Amino acid sequence: MQIQGVLQRQLELRRQQRRHRSLSVAAAARDFSANDYLGLSQHSQVRAAFQQGIQQWGAGSGSSPLVAGYQTPHAYLRRQLSEWLERDNVLLFSSGFSANQCTMRALAPLYERVVLDRLSHASLLDGVREQRHWKRFAHNDAAHAKKQLKPEATNLIVTESVFSMDGDSAPLSELAALDADLWVDDAHGLGIVGPEGRSVGGQFSQAQVPLVTATFGKALGVMGAALVGTDSVTDYLVNFGREFIYSTAFPAAQAAAVSAAIKIVQSAEGTQLRHQLATNIALFSDLAARANIPLGDSRHAIQTLVVGSDANVMRIGEALSSQGFKCGTIRPPTVPEGTARLRITLTAQHQEANIRAFVAALADCYHQLTETQAV
Ligand SMILES: Cc1ncc(COP(=O)(O)O)c(C=O)c1O
Repeated sequence: MQIQGVLQRQLELRRQQRRHRSLSVAAAARDFSANDYLGLSQHSQVRAAFQQGIQQWGAGSGSSPLVAGYQTPHAYLRRQLSEWLERDNVLLFSSGFSANQCTMRALAPLYERVVLDRLSHASLLDGVREQRHWKRFAHNDAAHAKKQLKPEATNLIVTESVFSMDGDSAPLSELAALDADLWVDDAHGLGIVGPEGRSVGGQFSQAQVPLVTATFGKALGVMGAALVGTDSVTDYLVNFGREFIYSTAFPAAQAAAVSAAIKIVQSAEGTQLRHQLATNIALFSDLAARANIPLGDSRHAIQTLVVGSDANVMRIGEALSSQGFKCGTIRPPTVPEGTARLRITLTAQHQEANIRAFVAALADCYHQLTETQAV
């Protein structure tokens, strides 16, 4: 291969920085890294809906949505989502990454200014990078967002409901009050925040937040995503959104599984699962505080422990792994330089004993490290 040498050099650089990543098969036991916050990926009704969907519709959709890939379960899921989130319309995508990129690439050129939270997800940044008229605002700083807007012009503000790396929440009411359209990526809020898990859809009207990204691979336990918004936006994306137009629709069976997951989220069982998740988050935070583990400022399922250097985060991650625990070890460029961290996710499925054992192991690893060096 002609670029073999270039590939090897770049990879070697990553290794020297201790930032080389590789795939490892996830072990089921004692996992504190997944985004399956309610455990729905394993839920019998979600699995049954997927299986029945495959029996009825086959394994794949066969083509892009505008050709023949758009089938009855996709249409059902769109209606279900737009009713649940009280928005005009919904467009389905194979992933949240694709939904964000498609929407950003299609809509950003139509605004005179686009401003994004500094810590916005890579899919949003990648979509806007090619534009000339975008700016970032300081993380969760609505006053700074306001300063970045272009006066007397069309502006789009982009943020996340719950941030993927820190678990902290955006000041959505303040941002919604600014003179701009607001787009909220609800990847880590949908299903777990607010009554019925409606998150942004339940808290804000379409007029306040006209664009929402809903993803199906986190609390809903499946995969895929939707852009939820006005009729004119979804119509525009059907006609101009390249990632939507030129990509195979996800399987109808998957749409059926997502619909089943939403029904659980809306039901009394969903309320009970959210309650259990909240109990687990509170237990974890309480135990961590007692063990002097300085967690970040999050009341959500995503909890972080910033340890600074890449080497330290890898050391703790490996020590936990040797005791059978898995949590995320996040390094730059995913997070800013010098803020490598453990990303710990709680789910409704965690047992009290497991959480206690994890915090005890984490406290040991962390304090051993801080005793030998300043973290
Ligand atoms: C905030 C946020 N937006 C979008 C995505 C992408 O979603 P998906 O995993 O469905 O591609 C993620 C997932 O990592 C995310 O954390």
